[in-house]
Amino acid sequence: MTGERTQVAIVGGGPAGLLLSHLLRARGIDSVVLEARPRDRVETRQRAGILEHGTVDVLREVGAADRMDRQGLPHDGFELRFEGRSVRVDMAELTGRNVMIWAQTEITKDLIALRLDQGEPLFFEAVVIAVDDVDTDSPRVRYRYEGAERELRADVVVGADGFHGVSRSAIPASVVRTHERVYPYSWLGILADVAPSSEELIYARGSSGFALGSMRSPSVTRAYIQVPNGTDASSWSDDAIWDELEARFALEDGSFTLARGPVTDKSVTAMRSFVGEPMRHGRLFLAGDAAHIVPPTGAKGLNLAVADVRVLAEALGEWYSTKDETLLDAYSQTALRRVWRASHFSWTMTTMLHRDPDGDPFEEQLALSHLRLIEASESERRTIAENYRGLTLHGV
Ligand code: DHB
Repeated sequence: MTGERTQVAIVGGGPAGLLLSHLLRARGIDSVVLEARPRDRVETRQRAGILEHGTVDVLREVGAADRMDRQGLPHDGFELRFEGRSVRVDMAELTGRNVMIWAQTEITKDLIALRLDQGEPLFFEAVVIAVDDVDTDSPRVRYRYEGAERELRADVVVGADGFHGVSRSAIPASVVRTHERVYPYSWLGILADVAPSSEELIYARGSSGFALGSMRSPSVTRAYIQVPNGTDASSWSDDAIWDELEARFALEDGSFTLARGPVTDKSVTAMRSFVGEPMRHGRLFLAGDAAHIVPPTGAKGLNLAVADVRVLAEALGEWYSTKDETLLDAYSQTALRRVWRASHFSWTMTTMLHRDPDGDPFEEQLALSHLRLIEASESERRTIAENYRGLTLHGV
């Protein structure tokens, strides 16, 4: 077995792991990133695309924002639709901040290119088998790379390998408390080569369920519809998807027209809320989806992962420069405050905008009443806007 050593071993080369490697490098801390999948798979998987202003700031800070600043689409507001009416949530006016539309896949590409340009260690198809000795001061990661089993020793291991990764299992079940909710519907998402039908995002509660109109560029539409769990994406024809989007976005005055075009990608996403507490055990720290999952409504998943690694980089920086463990000891608690805020917001947006196929009429009336309150009340719109554009890093 080949053995190596670094300061921080990062399991997972998605946006959380990659961004952490850059934030650590800026603080003079060495790390090695191990990613199980091939590079092209990491770079092409379609994920979300709404960046809070804090996420935008940190991408600029690490020098991975040139393409985002040229091609990303700043959005000052978004629309909610229900009962054939439309309500605009004006984030810029209500909160003084906006969000940026820039796809996670593009962020990942830029973070990878920057890391490789710097000549810093990032290995693809490096499959982690186990994370061991996390309760000692020399934890190790065992992994398979180019046909051989290897070992990486480190001061600290960061598990940023997603919900299905192995890192989480290195925390003994007896010390983890999990909180979970599985929703009774999924999202069917499409990419299409057609200009978006609206300049801003539309979150709709239609009579047959949720629909979201988004975009990837001025000429590429991204859209989603609520479908039953277990739906096979190929069972939906393109026409059937467009028809459903049109029905769910329809306005009572007939003023909305949906632009249709060639569908280039179709996939189904399950919806789940999950939080594992604590996010740290000994010298193992979890970040992003490895520690928590939110349903996609409200686009918090990537932003939470970025917030985790910002907190963690600051804590590791402090620890390496002064040996003071205060921030590291507070990592889990600090990160979880934001995780729970986003979990509540994502749950609220999800349950307010979807139709539960087995739902009781009481809950349906509550959801509609909440939407009408948002329509009527500026302070309610401000609350939604503050959560959507992202609350301050430690303030919640
Ligand atoms: C997108 C995804 C989301 O979950 C969301 O709330 C908004 C936009 C997107 O993929 O564009």
